[in-house]
Amino acid sequence: MSYYRIDLVFRLIVAACRMNFVLNVGRRLLSKMRQCSRLRLLYGLCFLLLFIFICTPRRVAGGAGAYPSMHWARGRNTPWTGFQGKCHLPPSPKLKPVNHVDDSLDLGSRTDVKTCTTWGAPIMWDGMFDPDVYDKHHIKMGASVALTVFAIGRYLETYLMDFLSSADRHFMVGLPVTYYVFTDAPENVTGVNLKAGRTLETIMVKRHKRWQDISMMRMETIADAIQTRIRHRHRYVFCMDVDQVFVGRFGSEALGDSVALLHSSFYNTPQETYTYDRQPNSTAYMETGDFYYHAAVFGGTWQSVRNLTESCLRGIMTDKRNGVEALWHDESHLNKYFWLHKPSKVLSPEYCWNFLNGPSREIHVKRLLWAEKHYDILRS
Ligand SMILES: *[C@@H]1O[C@H](CO)[C@@H](O)[C@H](O)[C@H]1NC(C)=O
Ligand SMILES: *[C@@H]1O[C@H](CO)[C@@H](O)[C@H](O)[C@H]1NC(C)=O
Ligand SMILES: *[C@@H]1O[C@H](CO)[C@@H](O)[C@H](O)[C@H]1NC(C)=O
Repeated sequence: MSYYRIDLVFRLIVAACRMNFVLNVGRRLLSKMRQCSRLRLLYGLCFLLLFIFICTPRRVAGGAGAYPSMHWARGRNTPWTGFQGKCHLPPSPKLKPVNHVDDSLDLGSRTDVKTCTTWGAPIMWDGMFDPDVYDKHHIKMGASVALTVFAIGRYLETYLMDFLSSADRHFMVGLPVTYYVFTDAPENVTGVNLKAGRTLETIMVKRHKRWQDISMMRMETIADAIQTRIRHRHRYVFCMDVDQVFVGRFGSEALGDSVALLHSSFYNTPQETYTYDRQPNSTAYMETGDFYYHAAVFGGTWQSVRNLTESCLRGIMTDKRNGVEALWHDESHLNKYFWLHKPSKVLSPEYCWNFLNGPSREIHVKRLLWAEKHYDILRS
């Protein structure tokens, strides 16, 4: 998405300004020092302190800086309204539904982050769960997972192999998985060596001219594939962007009825920064919401993913008829859907981290990373 590039340019400008400022101050101090040698030590000390002050990376609230101007406009003393604190649900039963493997979650094990939503869905962070408990449960239940991914045009050669080979190592290891690759060039999906228990199917899709349409029409394609194939074979479906790489366990703890992912650029920023669609004439229009979810990963049982994709598709088609396009396309519609139909499980940004966010104290494990994006060539 293009805010990625805006963000990069903005960071470069800020870095350049800081550097220029430091150099100017330094130059002036040096000329003063030459005039008055007794104060040399004092000036030196001041200069050092100033340098440390300017150059220490202070994490602007939100960190990600996708919309830096908003963080700055908010000011440094505005009360923190972001995503912090523990799980504040009344004592048992905390989570819904009860008698589920999610009851094994230790919601109090992470005191630095919110581990549940107000409607009783867990927010999955490292340290809250025992991977073995989840794996054993889902193997016993015979769970199998469909992973859908779109590799259209140059996205195929650029990303698909890394995505698939890393998924083989980290995605739902121990469970049967089928990769459904939607592509305009099935003949080019070659040379993939899959582990035992994993299969791959390619599905031919039409290539839309605009990447926005490719992105939005995947809702239709996924709904079709669920109806015609997936529902007969898999209980769970995950839908992911291809321009990412698995780097750590993305395991059965992520399975649930309806699963949404917190966007790594907004998980600790206030509501005002969420990039919901704000055009009243769009079906994706939202004034307030719970979180800002990322469309790069969503999932659930095939029933709920079918409902989700069909509902988003209806919204997109209505908008098209009205000549409106939601701000972030399918992601805006996804956010609207999860606002109206609360997810039963929320994944923390561990499950899709952007390396440009820089280090974050709350992120102990990275499971899926954004790959480097080359929109200039990919979207032309
Ligand atoms: C398939 O790959 C070949 C070789 O990389 C390329 O020339 C061709 O355009 C690709 N086909 C499609 C439909 O993208
Ligand atoms: C929809 O609303 C937005 C903002 O309110 C406006 O800029 C746009 O022109 C409207 N589009 C249509 C087709 O009415
Ligand atoms: C899907 O939608 C149908 C019709 O609205 C509803 O009856 C059903 O409960 C929904 N299922 C899920 C899993 O959301």
